[in-house]
Amino acid sequence: MSEFKKVAGLTGMKDTLPPESACWEQLESLVRDWLAGYGYQNMRTPVLEQTHLFTRGIGEVTDIVEKEMYSFVDPLNDERLTMRPEFTAGIVRAAIEHNFLYDRPRRIYAMGPVFRHERPQRGRYRQFHQIDVEALGFPGPDVDAELILMLARLWRLLGLNDMRLELNSLGQPAERAAHRAALIAHLEQHRDVLDDEAQRRMHSNPLRVLDTKNPAMQEMANAAPRLFDFLGDESLAHYQGLCARLDDAGIVYTLNPRLVRGLDYYNLTVFEWVTDRLGAQGTVCGGGRYDGLIELLGGKPAPAVGFAIGMERLLDLWQQDAQVSAPAECQVYLVHQGDDAQRQAAQLAESLRDAGMRALVHAGSTGFKSQFRRADASGAIAAVIIGGDELTARAATVKWLRGDAQGDSQQESVAFDQLVHHLKQRI
Ligand code: HAM
Repeated sequence: MSEFKKVAGLTGMKDTLPPESACWEQLESLVRDWLAGYGYQNMRTPVLEQTHLFTRGIGEVTDIVEKEMYSFVDPLNDERLTMRPEFTAGIVRAAIEHNFLYDRPRRIYAMGPVFRHERPQRGRYRQFHQIDVEALGFPGPDVDAELILMLARLWRLLGLNDMRLELNSLGQPAERAAHRAALIAHLEQHRDVLDDEAQRRMHSNPLRVLDTKNPAMQEMANAAPRLFDFLGDESLAHYQGLCARLDDAGIVYTLNPRLVRGLDYYNLTVFEWVTDRLGAQGTVCGGGRYDGLIELLGGKPAPAVGFAIGMERLLDLWQQDAQVSAPAECQVYLVHQGDDAQRQAAQLAESLRDAGMRALVHAGSTGFKSQFRRADASGAIAAVIIGGDELTARAATVKWLRGDAQGDSQQESVAFDQLVHHLKQRI
């Protein structure tokens, strides 16, 4: 026995093994095709960024920045670094750094892991994955609507028919400032019901105070002045322009004036897609417009809008609905006895792969019986058997393992030089 104590994975960070990993791959490939249909191009940015990108971009007084970031000081140069808690800030940084969005607007997507130090539960992890989509340089509301229509199509493609869309408008900075003053006055008036966190945030981020789950604060929150009522004509026109396009497409939505989102960069349109089938973590997708972020991060001002989907939550839903089955390990499993037969099998397998078939040559010296058990477990349609007799006759025995793949004959002899052609016709 080794002296080495077994090492466990980290809390809230999942391993994904076959066959579940095959579902991820299917989802990723479906998502890439879906995004290509709307002209989105992939961007890959590093997992690690300078901490102040996120503190500045997402906002100092947000849950993410205050308590959820994985940050550390690089001992080599004392730089403060953070593992990305979302994609948007990194994509904007990269777009500015590479002068990527000034000649023309860009439609960008990214997919991969993000990190937030939250309390894990179903649908909430510390390493999770997002499909992130950003439309950079578009003032909307046409593109806001395009993004939402896109998402409605994805739900259709995946057969998800219970997704609800909630919308809100956060207006422009001046409207938010007027609302903020009214809101702080309201909070001051109800100071006696505010919990510690609310007291702390009432001046720094009063909108987030309304997002409280504390039952003792609900009445106060319900009676608070609504940002939506402070919107001026232009902001309302933007919101109505979006709604008109959603109506054109028959997309159902509800205005949720309490929807504020957990990141500070938003203005005008914000939205979430939610479901009741995931327990407490029912938000599958969230996004909105962030017209000020590019300038805030040092770029020339340009409007932008985007969203991110939580892949774990999406997969959970998809697997509840559809029988997503992993593909078999291979189509053809080659069993053999003896060194010469193994070498012949390896050559034949390469020819099968040349013809586009998925082939697996048994490895390890076991008897035919256990090789057949492995062949069966692999999910292969056919086993190709090569023993001494087959080598002499230069013909393999083909055993069909799944009755339905080819009519009646369960076992047949096929000349080596006919094997690829013969199998290709039946697989
Ligand atoms: P977010 O709302 O923070 O937005 O995250 C987007 C989605 O990621 C959520 O709706 C949820 O499905 C998933 N998610 C969030 N936290 C967790 C977690 N701990 N475990 C599992 N899934 C989680 C953003 O990140 C923005 N960057 C979206 C955006 C892009 N806005 C504009 N462009």
